[in-house]
Amino acid sequence: MSKIVTMIAPVNIAVIKYWGKRDEELILPLNDSVSATLDTNVMCAKTSVCARPEFFENEIWLNGKKESFTNQRLENCLHEIQARAADEKSVSVEFLSWKVHVCSVNNFPTAAGLASSAAGYACLVSALAKLYKVKSDVSSIARLGSGSACRSVYGGFVRWHAGVNHDGSDSVASQIADASHWPEMRALILVVGETKKKISSTSGMRISVQTSELLKHRIEYCVPLRTEEIIKTIREKNFAKFAEITMKDSNQFHAICLDSYPPIVYMTDVSHYIIELVHKYNKTCGEIKVAYTFDAGPNACLYLLDKEVPKVVSLLKYAFPTSNSEFITGLSVQAEELTGDELTSLCEPQDTDLIKYIIHTKVGEGPTEIVEDSHLLNDSGVPID
Ligand code: DP6
Repeated sequence: MSKIVTMIAPVNIAVIKYWGKRDEELILPLNDSVSATLDTNVMCAKTSVCARPEFFENEIWLNGKKESFTNQRLENCLHEIQARAADEKSVSVEFLSWKVHVCSVNNFPTAAGLASSAAGYACLVSALAKLYKVKSDVSSIARLGSGSACRSVYGGFVRWHAGVNHDGSDSVASQIADASHWPEMRALILVVGETKKKISSTSGMRISVQTSELLKHRIEYCVPLRTEEIIKTIREKNFAKFAEITMKDSNQFHAICLDSYPPIVYMTDVSHYIIELVHKYNKTCGEIKVAYTFDAGPNACLYLLDKEVPKVVSLLKYAFPTSNSEFITGLSVQAEELTGDELTSLCEPQDTDLIKYIIHTKVGEGPTEIVEDSHLLNDSGVPID
């Protein structure tokens, strides 16, 4: 009988976007990408795993629902961890033959463009690595679940190296700076809609690779330069430059989506209004104080420094009236506000509830084991209700 291992893992939001694969099976990207890992105290996936001789088959429960284990990405992750454990001789051959039970939950909306698969696969792979006592880097295994998941294996600021090897052995993540490096960095996630996105990242990037001329230019000329530049801004804590590159890269990613045929549209009018507001705010400040970035969905992630949060939150509350009494979740926000004149000069209030809620968070650590007894599986290895 094996013990139950429970881990939590973070989401990450890219500032240099991953968009396009050179190998769909091994999930090998066309370009390097860079992200910040966000605090698991605010948003995380939580996963319990165990392996037992009496288990009849591999089973998985996701967000309270039994799902099929017959899923190529899931199976690839499990097989790769088991292969690694066999190589490292970290567990017995008998242990390797046992079936596993997996139970996982997210504390944020799934498939709403909130990097839920990244946290989910990083969590699964980290928990399995712990269960099978695998010691080596598992970012390349998390990558087999979902490309962006490999970046959630580390805390702080992370780079995913595209790599050149056909087997993907050099397509791994590495840490640029740990979670304590830039303690003032904050993120505001503006949840525009919780509905499932129309085109998955996987399908969207396939269309872009097949049809977008701009994508080639991005991969060859833009990303290599931007990656080096943004790493420098992170090391030097140069917010204005970091923010500028972040916004330009988000804009380029969405331009590539539009350049795809048929075009892919992830952002909505609300997303575009947020972009306009951020540019107006930065202009009024006389320097770049806030950056926006959008993944494959309409939600915005704003990166900003802690001292800017109260003012930006007061602006967002003014611009996006809400009926939600818990409009701001996550970290608390100090009560410093922009004046009425400042607000009216920046924008006019929009319709109510265009933004459902805002998550205030910061850069955080990578996956962590939960040692106290709060497993998602009971002693018999089935989900606790
Ligand atoms: C827009 O990692 O979800 O969020 O590898 O096909 O699972 P698959 O795609 P996924 O793509 C994420 C794309 C992105 C940009 C990013 O996170 O870098």
